[in-house]
Amino acid sequence: MNLNYMDIHCHILPGVDDGAKNMEQSIEMLSVAYDEGCRRIVLTPHYERGRNSYEPERLDDIFLELKREAKKHFPEMELYLGNELLYEDGVVEDVRNGLVHTMAGTKYVLVEFNIQISYQGIYKAMKELTQARFRPIIAHVERYHCLVGRMERIDELEEMGIYLQMNAESVLGSFFDENVRWCRKLMKEEKISFLGTDAHNLENRAPNMREALEWMYRKLDNAYMDAVTVEYPQMMVENRYLD
Ligand SMILES: [Fe+2]
Repeated sequence: MNLNYMDIHCHILPGVDDGAKNMEQSIEMLSVAYDEGCRRIVLTPHYERGRNSYEPERLDDIFLELKREAKKHFPEMELYLGNELLYEDGVVEDVRNGLVHTMAGTKYVLVEFNIQISYQGIYKAMKELTQARFRPIIAHVERYHCLVGRMERIDELEEMGIYLQMNAESVLGSFFDENVRWCRKLMKEEKISFLGTDAHNLENRAPNMREALEWMYRKLDNAYMDAVTVEYPQMMVENRYLD
């Protein structure tokens, strides 16, 4: 089992969104992630157009501060900056104008939607981003009602060149839970390109992935697992296509 995985979705940057409140909490969260086997992280604070509680330009400074502090405690850990942008009208303009941080400065953009969004809404947004030459990654794809159980929609998104991220722990739970079964199916059919924790704190949304990875490595093709935990994220931060 690969224990040098990359977490591509978390809210560990201090004091910018509903994630880590301050530097001390950020370091504690990084410590948990480190113990789980995580060695690389893309920090993805929420970007909500016109409603951010931070100045987008300030993110780079806060990121550098965290990077400096993290180096003292976890010299082997590599950090990258991104955003989790909430899709809404006009937001692609912000991406074009450099207000949104793409993943590690690449063409990859992590995008979330309102949970009730229609499939037409997702499709339109993905078209808009790909036409602007970005490579969208749909954040926690298992959450959107319009996609659950609809493999033909997943296939259509895949054909459009859209990447899917799942919160790793979503595969854990009862087989009788429809969403858990759907998540396992998405993994078994190798539809997911990236895993994340979507960690917000140390209590109910901590940066844990080990238990989920253990399950996945037991049940799924291990070459695929090495790809989603290490190889694909590596290609992403180098701005290479996954195919
Ligand atoms: Fe998130």
